[in-house]
Amino acid sequence: MEFYDLLQRRCPPKKIQAYLPRTPSLTCDELSKQLDALPPYYARGVVRVLVEMFENGLLEDPDETLAEVLYHRVVTLPPTQDPTPQQDIITYAITDRIRPRIAETPRLIAHGTTGHRTWEASLYLCVYLLRNSPPRRIVELGAGTGLVSTALAMAGHDVVSTDGSASVVRQLQQTFELNEVTPNATAHVLRWGVDQLPPLSPCADLVVAADVTYDTAVIPSLCSCLQQTHAACLVACTVRNQSTLSAFEQHCRRKCMAITLVASTDTEPNCIEHLMFGPLVCPVRIYRVSPNQGQYIKDDV
Ligand SMILES: C[S@@+](CC[C@H](N)C(=O)[O-])C[C@H]1O[C@@H](n2cnc3c(N)ncnc32)[C@H](O)[C@@H]1O
Repeated sequence: MEFYDLLQRRCPPKKIQAYLPRTPSLTCDELSKQLDALPPYYARGVVRVLVEMFENGLLEDPDETLAEVLYHRVVTLPPTQDPTPQQDIITYAITDRIRPRIAETPRLIAHGTTGHRTWEASLYLCVYLLRNSPPRRIVELGAGTGLVSTALAMAGHDVVSTDGSASVVRQLQQTFELNEVTPNATAHVLRWGVDQLPPLSPCADLVVAADVTYDTAVIPSLCSCLQQTHAACLVACTVRNQSTLSAFEQHCRRKCMAITLVASTDTEPNCIEHLMFGPLVCPVRIYRVSPNQGQYIKDDV
């Protein structure tokens, strides 16, 4: 990844050097523009690393202005950390062409919903789906920040994106507008087992969901929602706890839904490293769930 791509993906400042393919050549205008676009919490760390690289001769300085630009940044960036979690726009370079810009609040872990940051299962599901050219009409459940929905819409699919949290859905709609994927992608509130499926979802060819099996309490309502769609489903599960995953598998089988493992980071551990800048803490597995075992399922995925 090039230097500015690393910044747009919010590569941790201390890891920037390790991911650089070559010595970056930074001009004053472009560097200032890029630093201005960074949120202060991140810009501070980037400037510190740039100063270190500059002092060690690891930056090309074609205009001979870097010393001035960096000095100005060091003295003007506020020194203290702002304790309020801030929203940020992160660019995920899934492929050269598919680069969703996703609004997230990375330091907000829960706050009523876990949908304010993008989770590893979404990254893996995205890579898997774009590698396997899925069918055209897709519904996403528990979409969170909307990485999967946005990437699929950018790849030309029609996406009905849903989440149980109204604030997450409001943000989803804004993310679709930011990425100019409306009206191919639409956002709807859908609480599993409570709300009706949104319009258009009954004719979906495929249902996708990432990191939605983390709580045994919601597994029955999630499965009943999967069953309602009558479409094949791909569910990406982060294996934080084997017993929660087993509860999901058992519940699917009890409800006569066929469940098969189709992909796992166990067999390709580095496949999303370029998107997350570190090793996976827990493996991610993608399951194909067929809601009507023994009956016709739309499209084989
Ligand atoms: C761990 S986040 C995963 C978000 C996104 N798929 C990702 O991987 O980044 C789980 C998402 O499921 C949503 N969710 C949790 N329980 C739900 C329910 N009962 N009905 C609908 N959505 C729910 C949350 O609001 C949250 O956005």
